[in-house]
Order: sequence, then structure tokens, then C-alpha cells
Amino acid sequence: MNDRKLIIVDDPRAACVCAAEEIAHFAGEAICNHGEFKICLAGGSTPAATYELMATRFELSVDWKGVQFFWGDERCLPPDHEASNYGMAERTMLSKLPLQPSQIHRIHGEDDPEQAARAYEAELRKAFSLEQDEFPRFDLILLGLGANAHTASLFPGDAAIRETRRMAVAVEVEDKIRRRITLTPPVLNNAARVMFVVCGAEKGPALRNVLEGPKDPDRYPAQIVTPAHGEVIWVLDKSAAALLNAR
Ligand code: 6PG
Repeated sequence: MNDRKLIIVDDPRAACVCAAEEIAHFAGEAICNHGEFKICLAGGSTPAATYELMATRFELSVDWKGVQFFWGDERCLPPDHEASNYGMAERTMLSKLPLQPSQIHRIHGEDDPEQAARAYEAELRKAFSLEQDEFPRFDLILLGLGANAHTASLFPGDAAIRETRRMAVAVEVEDKIRRRITLTPPVLNNAARVMFVVCGAEKGPALRNVLEGPKDPDRYPAQIVTPAHGEVIWVLDKSAAALLNAR
């Protein structure tokens, strides 16, 4: 059974500081317990401020040589494109940290989507030393929430929400950036911890539907994230949480 923890803070800045504190704490715990910290980064715009804090205020709080970076999804764009999830993390955090290239496991958004999804699956098998039909267990998966309740690139009505075998798939979604590659629910739900960071009143209706609405992951894809043996943390600002009953 997964635990669910809501942390509600005043504003987006407080949410990013809280998220950075949690990441630094989990990194120290994982590195202490099993020698490394495998983190799966979120895309979009919300995480940027958190990533900047990791590379500045929290730079000395993490033993970066023990951290392996992955992504929950990627837009099918070159890595230096302004809308690339890898590019955003590179600009805000990775380029400022003492990392080896071998610590970065990006999704190759510049390649053919199906080939890139297969290549990312192979990267996951290698990085996690997976047996056949085994899924990676991330120490921490960061996720955001779209105003339509999507997370990673699992969008309403998409077949990927119901994927049970593949680890990563190419999708075409109703968004300004249509073609993407996304981790699938079996990977998200094998995590030790998942942390959503959600800010802004525009996310309020989606957040209420995901957390307090009818169970309908096809309509509210973030509901599919229910790690069997993991914790789900929601870092929310007051604006996003305003419509919730349970606060
Ligand atoms: C993406 C993200 C996506 C994001 C949400 C929220 O590639 O778009 O992975 O799932 O987390 O769309 O995005 P914002 O943080 O920009 O609101």
C-alpha cells in the first residue's frame, strides 16, 4: 500500500525550497543506505527553480558523484531546444554540478520516437541491471501535474496509461508539443518515492479531481501513480491546494 503525504506551503518559491530540501534528504538517505541515488527528473516549467536551488543553495548538501539522473518524459526535440526537458535540467542544474557524462541518462528526443523509447528502455535495463520483465526502482521520481491532470507524458485517454509491459513508450498527445516519450505506469509505480510538485490556481481543479475525484485514470492520468511499495508526496502551494477538502 502506498502512503500519501501532502505538504502545503505558501507560494511557488516555498514549494521549490521544500522540494529541494526533500531531494537533498532523500539523496543522502539513498547514498548512505545503498551507495547511490537514482533520481528521475520531471519536465515542464515548475521544476526549474528547484533544479536551480539544487545547484546553488543545496550544492554542498549532496554527494553528487553518487547521483544518477534520468527523466520521466521527454519531448521529441533536440536536447538544446528551449522546450527540451533535458535541456531545461542541463541549463538550470546539471551544467553547474561536478558530474561525469555517465551519470546522465537522457532520453534522445532528437531521434525517431519509437527508437528513442527502445533505446531508453535499454539504458534503464543496463543502469538498473534488470532481469527480463523486471522494472527499475527509482529512489525518487519527480512529477508535475498538467491542468488536464496529465503527468509525465501520460495524457487523458492515451493507451500508455494502461501499459503494463513496456518501460517507456512514444506517444502523440493533445498539446502544443505533440510527440513525446514517457515512462509508463509500471515504472512510476515501482518507485520507492514519487514527489509531485504542483503550484498555481490553474492546477486546482485537476489536483482536486486527481486527489478527491472519482477513480478514473483515463480521465485523470496522475491517478495511475500508486506505487505498491512506495511513498507519494505532494508538494503544493496554497493556490493549487485551494479546492482540496483534505488540507
Ligand atoms: C512535460 C512534463 C509534464 C509537466 C506538466 C506540468 O514534459 O510537459 O513532464 O508532465 O510536469 O505538464 O508542467 P508545468 O510545470 O510547466 O506546469
